[in-house]
Amino acid sequence: MRLTERRRAAAALALALLWAAPALASVLTYHNSNRRHGLYVVPGLTFAAAGTMHRDTRFAPALTGQIFAQPLYWRPREAGPGHVVVATEANIVYALDEATGAIEWQTALPPPVPHKKLPCGNIDPLGITGTPVIDPATARVYFDAQTLTADGPRHKIYALSLSDGAIVSGWPLDVQTAAAAKGTVLLHLVDAAGASRAGVAATSFTITGGNGPHFLDANMMAVTAATSSSKSGWVVFFDVPPGIAGLTQPGSAAVTIEMPAVPVAAGVVSIARARVGDGAPALPSNVSFSTQIVPIFAARGCVACHSGSGTGKDLGDLTLSGSANLIYKELVTEKPNTRVRLAAPETSLILTMPSREDPPDGHPNVTFTGPRDPDYLKLLVWIREGAKNN
Ligand code: HEC
Repeated sequence: MRLTERRRAAAALALALLWAAPALASVLTYHNSNRRHGLYVVPGLTFAAAGTMHRDTRFAPALTGQIFAQPLYWRPREAGPGHVVVATEANIVYALDEATGAIEWQTALPPPVPHKKLPCGNIDPLGITGTPVIDPATARVYFDAQTLTADGPRHKIYALSLSDGAIVSGWPLDVQTAAAAKGTVLLHLVDAAGASRAGVAATSFTITGGNGPHFLDANMMAVTAATSSSKSGWVVFFDVPPGIAGLTQPGSAAVTIEMPAVPVAAGVVSIARARVGDGAPALPSNVSFSTQIVPIFAARGCVACHSGSGTGKDLGDLTLSGSANLIYKELVTEKPNTRVRLAAPETSLILTMPSREDPPDGHPNVTFTGPRDPDYLKLLVWIREGAKNN
């Protein structure tokens, strides 16, 4: 590190230190807020106190690499000492004693990327640029380090233990690989009139296999206070397996959410809008086998396996193609009281096989992601109404 850089780093740190006088709370992220507005009050930093502020020349740790990320301040216990956490473009992370500036631990990660290996930018080398984030509950610091690998420059997200700087097991995460395997779904919850619908409980819906819902607030910001601030009606699901996203709702949910078929592709964000209605879904009535039940099997992909030489016909001995009379025979008369059970409709194989169970049954896929799926409900009501060939 050149001397000027070192001075700059020291000055920045000394300032950070003054702001982080012992009575202060931790500064856990950029501008100390997920909103990044930088508006927060430091008790004790009054106009009068500012007049006597000076640089603490003893606080002069020798750090390697330019510092673009805001140094953070971590105070694990209210009464205990604090630590200044600094990450540099050399991909080195330091914890410094808040009083002396002495290095408590330092962790050197794999090398940063020289500017000549990058298509753009003006930071040389490029390592950790974004301000890390401290999770006080687990005493870990998370950050992104641009890293030179055998496959070229890669963004890697690290987690380090704040007690000794050790890399937490399971990390780093290669952003390119992680993003390539799964998709992201951005879902807009709306009411019947198409207006944003706020305040839907996180427990009332999930996308099968996905990580979410994560609520965005009125400004489309991701904030931790989920439902109460979900004024926009927008939610995000990460890590959604490629295919068609299925919405799951527990039977007890206070709302009914209708989500259209959302195609999910790896490494891509899919946007969809879903209608939220109050209460449980309205049940259909007078369900017709030929006009309402039979079309389900083609529309929901059952026929592909339950016809011809498909595995469902072969292993399950069930054909769901052909005339309504043939399908009726397969479901009701062929194997009485198994595929359709009048005495306990919910236990009918036609409902349980394509649904999710814990532990799962032998069926190769889950089509009905929950008891609120509209086709599931049609089948259920048709059985409750006597499974008629109507
Ligand atoms: C990917 C292929 C596939 C798809 C799609 C599929 N099934 Fe199946 N189904 C099977 C296989 C294989 C079996 C046999 C499973 C076993 O015996 O454990 C089976 C068994 C069944 C059975 C039990 C038959 C019996 O009497 O044992 C029912 C009922 C059933 N499927 C209904 C459906 C419905 C309804 C759909 C559409 C919503 C559907 N399946 C979609 C492959 C499929």
